[in-house]
Amino acid sequence: MACRHCGEEVPEEARFCPSCGAEQAVAGPQEERKVVSVLFVDVVGSTAHADGADPEDVRERNQLYYRETRERIERYGGVVEKFIGDAIMAVFGAPLARSDDAERAVRAALSTLEGIRELNERHAGLDLQVRAAVCSGEAMVAINAAPGEALATGDVVNTAARLQSAAPPGRAIVGENTYRLTRHAFGLEELPSIDAKGKRDAVRAWLVGEPLVSPASRPTSQTPLVGRDRELLIVRTVWDRAVNASRPHLVTVLGPAGIGKSRLASEMAMDVEAQGGRTLWGRSLPYEEQTPYRGAGEIVRRATGIFENEPVDVARDKLAAAVASLFPEGEVAETTRYLSLLLGLGLDEPASEVIHLQFAMRRFVELLSREQPVLVVFEDIHWADAVLLDLIDYLVSHVQEHRILFLALARPEFMEERPSWGAGMAGSTTLPLDPLTPAEAAQVIGSLLAKAQASIVERVVATAGGNPLFIEELVASLADDPLSEELPGTVLAAISARIDSLPAAGRTALLHASVIGQTFWRDVLAHLGDVPDVDEALDALEARGLVQRRSQSQVEGDVEFTFKHVLIRDTAYGMLPRAARRELHAATAAHVERSVPDPAEIGWVLA
Ligand SMILES: Nc1ncnc2c1ncn2[C@@H]1O[C@H](COP(=O)(O)OP(=O)(O)OP(=O)(O)O)[C@@H](O)[C@H]1O
Ligand SMILES: [Mg+2]
Repeated sequence: MACRHCGEEVPEEARFCPSCGAEQAVAGPQEERKVVSVLFVDVVGSTAHADGADPEDVRERNQLYYRETRERIERYGGVVEKFIGDAIMAVFGAPLARSDDAERAVRAALSTLEGIRELNERHAGLDLQVRAAVCSGEAMVAINAAPGEALATGDVVNTAARLQSAAPPGRAIVGENTYRLTRHAFGLEELPSIDAKGKRDAVRAWLVGEPLVSPASRPTSQTPLVGRDRELLIVRTVWDRAVNASRPHLVTVLGPAGIGKSRLASEMAMDVEAQGGRTLWGRSLPYEEQTPYRGAGEIVRRATGIFENEPVDVARDKLAAAVASLFPEGEVAETTRYLSLLLGLGLDEPASEVIHLQFAMRRFVELLSREQPVLVVFEDIHWADAVLLDLIDYLVSHVQEHRILFLALARPEFMEERPSWGAGMAGSTTLPLDPLTPAEAAQVIGSLLAKAQASIVERVVATAGGNPLFIEELVASLADDPLSEELPGTVLAAISARIDSLPAAGRTALLHASVIGQTFWRDVLAHLGDVPDVDEALDALEARGLVQRRSQSQVEGDVEFTFKHVLIRDTAYGMLPRAARRELHAATAAHVERSVPDPAEIGWVLA
């Protein structure tokens, strides 16, 4: 192997070049199979438009259109792959997958259409008409694609291009997979199927209407809560103490997507309200509408009756009135000013005034808690800005002698970014949510499917791995297609996002381990190469709950691991292109044969 920096020879497993000391990048597979969402935007009747027009005008018009579209696509986390004439193709979910890529792509489409309408208003005579389409599906993704190189290739790209040309001007349409992935988030109306060039069957399509939910949120199901007695008991206990002894506390609920964090919080909120308490709820968002203090701002807004889309002056009046009725007279002017900064209604720059702003928020919740005990929920703080996290930290460490319980909900990666979370706070508890037990999972299935066959229940329990969201999605996909063996896209997206959020070495290790099997061994993995420090990588994987070290090994002298769940292994394996799989399988077999005196004995491993 040659050093990428100086070109000198570097030993195969070295992390640093012995000649120049440059760190050697982890050379993972260069291509992967991934589910992506492809967005196509095109100008309606573009050639007619350019016909006979002054070339300078055409160029200016194109620049306006490209800039606006690119900016909007990137705001939602998409990557603009190329311009083909007037058409723009963007990919969501590559190189890195997020659990809500399809939704982001559709939001980006709507935002682009909106942006073009605004452009037309600002530039008289521009008169641009565009349309858009989003398709989701498996593609080959170039992981290290340079700008301008193809990022994703596959049928999904062609289908998106075809669908786009069938969209009505000014509107967006989506294909079937995107429909399934986003039907909870948008009003979608089925159109007559589209005969697309190069497609045997007509392609189903849906016209996109208004968004139904805020970004990356989904409606919580109404099925009865199963299990979680212990977790609720813990939260209720600290709540009682907060109410009866005025001892505030922070509970941070941790768990992967779909495990039931929001559900636990809403159960608690119902409890609190039944007891005459009040819940203040603020959610952080992954993109777009996110302002630094969004989670806290939402709390203030809801408590003072301000709507998100209200004109600034109306919102300020409402805030001033609410503050005047809550605060002693001497504090009103100051507090109104700082809370309006926090809401993004202020004109000043908040940065230099963080402490005042924090203090205003503290007084706000304290005074509210004099009226009724308060449960303050900060939802999805893995997306929160550092300033909001500092604010929560400040509130928890400074609010005393008040009837307040803080509840923060986060996915596990949050603790990696903020490992000291809770450390300096007087009353802080971390509450990890474990998967449901198989019996509990079966109970959830029972409440979703009136009379489910035992074999179906068994299959869903085995596949879902105790994740209630996955159970719901699997049951819903059974309703769509009872015989389907395929994983629902939503489940796949959630797990791919978890894998893609891993540090590079851990991620490569996970993909390689998936080739060895559901059970794998440290030395075998080390021999597959590409991971500089296998133990460190395995540690990271174990800490994230993706793999588990076994106390006993079936292979003497080697440490045994298993994937925490077959879904994780299958998804990781599914990311590897066939060629890479073949190579890794061969390398695994060769290593095992070499390292065991009598390969016949371990025929089962090789098989
Ligand atoms: N213990 C449970 N019993 C029955 N249903 C549950 C349980 N926990 C969660 N659910 C259901 O599973 C779905 C996913 O739960 P929830 O939205 O709370 O996940 P989450 O942890 O907040 O995920 P995210 O990180 O994506 O926000 C919801 O529809 C919820 O009602
Ligand atoms: Mg949630």
